[in-house]
Amino acid sequence: MLKGLKTFYFSTAIIIIVAITQGINCKSLKKDGKALSQVYCTNCHSYPEPSQLPREIWLKGVLPEMGLRLGIGDRSELLKKYQFKLYDQLIQLGAYPENPTIKKEEWDAIVNYYKENSPSKIPSPQKKEIAKTGNDQFNFFEIYTLPNQTANTTFAKFISKKNEIWIGNHQRTLDRYNIKGQYIFSIRSPSPVVDVLNQHQPIFLSIGNMQPNEDRNGRLYSMAINGTQGKLLVDSLHRPVQFMQTDMDNDGSEDMIIAEFGYITGQVQLPMGKIINV
Ligand code: HEC
Repeated sequence: MLKGLKTFYFSTAIIIIVAITQGINCKSLKKDGKALSQVYCTNCHSYPEPSQLPREIWLKGVLPEMGLRLGIGDRSELLKKYQFKLYDQLIQLGAYPENPTIKKEEWDAIVNYYKENSPSKIPSPQKKEIAKTGNDQFNFFEIYTLPNQTANTTFAKFISKKNEIWIGNHQRTLDRYNIKGQYIFSIRSPSPVVDVLNQHQPIFLSIGNMQPNEDRNGRLYSMAINGTQGKLLVDSLHRPVQFMQTDMDNDGSEDMIIAEFGYITGQVQLPMGKIINV
């Protein structure tokens, strides 16, 4: 009888101790905005320190937006910045859940942590001087964008076989310069060029709509360097940014690997067999 009572007291004591420690754990995690942010934010991307942005940007810009991605706040607010179509696509993809995926008090602790540990202002970065001398192997010269173009460069590459520099831009031209930086010719492209493979008939990759979106209007095509004989190789690409050519299946013919950066979704495509050698 006495033994039974002892066991009862003993196990009750253990239960109480476990309950207290659990309580403390829960309570401290709930309050520890730092630890919580390290868990939640890194579910989706690398960890941003509070010191990286000014307080106001965290509180009025980034955190409300990240909150919506965790189901905190009113997602219909997004219609102020997204078109209906993109909004519907993002909702369909589950980017902005209807119900919270984090407890409200945990979210508040995270917001509080960023509020208390971010600077009120961040000094503008110092403009760095570009080294113009110092190495006899290289000559320095500047290439200016053409009149009526803004400096929205989407691609730049030295084309060794032709001794030319090719520069693509937002205005949908690919501008060719010689090795002295003198302008030669512009080729019109269906959308901004982001990658080129230079071979007998060069292959171009155009991104489609550059703004973040879920549409598929990028293209891979071949074209002569005077802009004629265009031939579509792959269309309906989702914001592609890079491609490579290699024989993936060892059948003796080259295949393409296309990186579709996309937006909420993205993928690497291997359109095997679809591409005819050009
Ligand atoms: C459910 C996924 C998800 C979670 C959780 C998440 N983020 Fe993000 N975050 C994103 C995505 C997606 C983007 C890119 C948004 C874009 O490009 O429009 C992003 C972008 C950002 C950016 C860059 C903003 C900009 O304008 O370039 C910052 C800063 C950021 N997140 C901070 C955080 C912090 C801090 C947390 C945790 C409190 C967090 N994120 C949690 C998905 C998430």
